[in-house]
Amino acid sequence: MKLFVLLLFVVYELYLCESEEISAGTVFVLKGEDVLLNVTKAVVLEDLFSFSWKYNENKNVLQVNSSNNPHVFPDYAGRIEFSVNNFSVELKNLQESDSGVYTARVITLLGGETEAAKYNVKVEDRASLPLLTLSFVSDNSSSCSFTVTCSSQDSHINSTFSCETRTCSQEGVERSEGIPDTFLQVHQSRGSIICNHSNHVSWTNTTKIIKDVCHQYDVPHQLNPVHIILGVFLTIIILAIIGVGYFGVFEKEEQAKE
Ligand SMILES: *[C@@H]1O[C@H](CO)[C@@H](O)[C@H](O)[C@H]1NC(C)=O
Ligand SMILES: *[C@@H]1O[C@H](CO)[C@@H](O)[C@H](O)[C@H]1NC(C)=O
Ligand SMILES: *[C@@H]1O[C@H](CO)[C@@H](O)[C@H](O)[C@H]1NC(C)=O
Ligand SMILES: *[C@@H]1O[C@H](CO)[C@@H](O)[C@H](O)[C@H]1NC(C)=O
Ligand SMILES: *[C@@H]1O[C@H](CO)[C@@H](O)[C@H](O)[C@H]1NC(C)=O
Ligand SMILES: *[C@@H]1O[C@H](CO)[C@@H](O)[C@H](O)[C@H]1NC(C)=O
Ligand SMILES: *[C@@H]1O[C@H](CO)[C@@H](O)[C@H](O)[C@H]1NC(C)=O
Repeated sequence: MKLFVLLLFVVYELYLCESEEISAGTVFVLKGEDVLLNVTKAVVLEDLFSFSWKYNENKNVLQVNSSNNPHVFPDYAGRIEFSVNNFSVELKNLQESDSGVYTARVITLLGGETEAAKYNVKVEDRASLPLLTLSFVSDNSSSCSFTVTCSSQDSHINSTFSCETRTCSQEGVERSEGIPDTFLQVHQSRGSIICNHSNHVSWTNTTKIIKDVCHQYDVPHQLNPVHIILGVFLTIIILAIIGVGYFGVFEKEEQAKE
């Protein structure tokens, strides 16, 4: 029996050695929000000597020793919640400075050390409202073309549109070098040019009405379902009134004959 247990231990330790390093999953969080970091590998309580969550490998967030209560280090007091059931940690009200790698580490009674979770947390602020400006317009009776510049603080893209009565085609798109993790997009929809600024946690847009740029451009008609229903309803009522009127006359004629 003892041998069996020992064997199990060895197998377990081997398994730990084999997967000592786990790759960090990236988690994007909106500034001011909370994130729950789970332990992804089973922690065997009987083997546990100590357990810790660390920030960027060296800063202590929390530590649990086998016999003691969880200890939250001063920088994180009141900012985290720890679950004694599953060892997950919830980081609250995250700020950009909290971005970094969070690692859960287990030290076993035998002295083996292993990672039980690893997350690369990236805190991002809401994307700012982009600026949409016209940089070139050519508008005459037969065709219209224009170039817009859609910009944020750190990057911009230029896009050229060519329009005829009701359709515009998007021709060239040129983008400047931007910072990673934020994106600018220009497209057209329902008679508007839309400039969309997004990152991993939010997006926002600025729009420009095409008709204000190309004066001969007609906004495509869209059938409104309310109008269709109203139309059908009115038709039925009108038909009903005509019907009643017709039968009314018919009945009067019948009465007159009698
Ligand atoms: C942790 O688990 C909870 C519940 O299963 C889930 O909502 C949350 O997204 C997980 N956290 C991460 C970082 O995957
Ligand atoms: C846990 O044990 C280690 C090693 O004995 C010690 O350095 C550390 O201060 C202990 N932490 C807590 C929270 O008791
Ligand atoms: C861990 O426990 C916390 C708090 O009880 C819970 O919110 C969370 O969903 C649990 N995580 C998993 C992966 O079950
Ligand atoms: C209208 O402008 C386009 C270029 O935008 C040009 O090719 C075309 O010749 C112009 N037509 C007239 C009638 O000026
Ligand atoms: C976009 O257009 C602006 C104004 O015409 C110009 O200054 C800028 O260099 C253009 N950017 C790119 C990436 O072509
Ligand atoms: C803006 O971009 C985001 C991310 O690509 C997308 O989810 C969203 O639907 C876009 N919004 C508009 C109005 O285009
Ligand atoms: C972005 O576009 C959507 C519809 O596509 C609109 O409802 C929303 O108000 C726009 N946001 C801003 C900030 O203009």
